[in-house]
Amino acid sequence: MAYYRQVGEVPQKRHTQFRDARDPGGRLYYEELMGEEGFSSDSSLLYHRGVPSAISSAELWELPDQARTPNHPLKPRHLRLHDLTTGADAVTDRRLVLGNADVRISYVTTGGPESATPLYRNAIGDECVYVESGSGTVETVFGVLAYRAGDYVVIPRATTHRWVPAEPSRLYAIEANSHIAPPKRYLSRYGQLLEHAPFCERDLHGPGAVQLDDSGDTDVEVLVKHRVGGQVVGTRYTYATHPFDVVGWDGCLYPYTFNIDDYMPITGKIHQPPPVHQVFEGHNFVICNFLPRKVDYHPLAVPVPYYHSNVDSDEVMFYVAGDYEARKGSGIGLGSISLHPGGHAHGPQPQAIEASLGAEYFEESAVMVDTFAPLDLGEGGRAVEDPEYAWSWARALD
Ligand SMILES: [Fe+2]
Repeated sequence: MAYYRQVGEVPQKRHTQFRDARDPGGRLYYEELMGEEGFSSDSSLLYHRGVPSAISSAELWELPDQARTPNHPLKPRHLRLHDLTTGADAVTDRRLVLGNADVRISYVTTGGPESATPLYRNAIGDECVYVESGSGTVETVFGVLAYRAGDYVVIPRATTHRWVPAEPSRLYAIEANSHIAPPKRYLSRYGQLLEHAPFCERDLHGPGAVQLDDSGDTDVEVLVKHRVGGQVVGTRYTYATHPFDVVGWDGCLYPYTFNIDDYMPITGKIHQPPPVHQVFEGHNFVICNFLPRKVDYHPLAVPVPYYHSNVDSDEVMFYVAGDYEARKGSGIGLGSISLHPGGHAHGPQPQAIEASLGAEYFEESAVMVDTFAPLDLGEGGRAVEDPEYAWSWARALD
């Protein structure tokens, strides 16, 4: 995200001597460039008190079950995430719901403050964690982010961080194998969010201050998620000193939050297609949100969607608030996911079409992930599947 930010102390010129003024010997800080696409895209420079590469051990970290089961026979699926029991840790207790080679969706209900996670970083890609409920903070090497319900917490690849819930929190974790950013069509050629974008830089909240750990801790564990071949695996590093030792940083690469209340839906005289509701994109997938909004104002408008075959994508809707008018009677409720795969036409319950005529406002909130390659089911998804969902449209005709 090309939006410059500076936090804490940084030297006047990059790559020059920068010394600790509190140290009589004037010890040098250790400069680290954290950058995307080699040295050719967004980056930040961080100034550490300790050496950021000083590990003293590397061991296997056994991840929860990452196995994926193909959607075969091909069916639309309904998964009830509120029925999914998980451990309390925001990272290590995530259960895989859906996934493919580009993106994985997991879900966890954390505990309270006692469940603060170990230090963690995802070396596979960016994470976009939607906070369905709860609040707390995410401590990172860039500083602290506060989170609350409705936030997307966007954490760049390889950012060392940990979740500290203030209360139990339902987290919907979208883990990419790539970077996650606002759609290119909303950005100027230099990266500013344009006037037609449904949000702007004021809505993105990065860390406001650095977080220095002065505990003097040594031998600090950091869990690293990474890839071996096509497999998602983990390694447990031990660092000689605490990674939260950054006195300052600047640049355009850092974690941030964005709340869906700050998304201004684009509406129209007739039904607007899902791309107007897009908020982020990664490689081979997009993230959209359907939010409370005025609906179509043509006198003959049909407010609910038409049936659609997204021939190139699998569509995942996560229903997070309000009533989802189009799917009344299908079993879909709050906390549900629907997976509508490419190769199957989907749309409203038949009776919802007439019922929607004349509606002026939809009170619904859903987060959608569209993938451009088929999604498999994770073990968590299979555990809470409603087996009758695939027949819900036919049953509505009985
Ligand atoms: Fe759809």
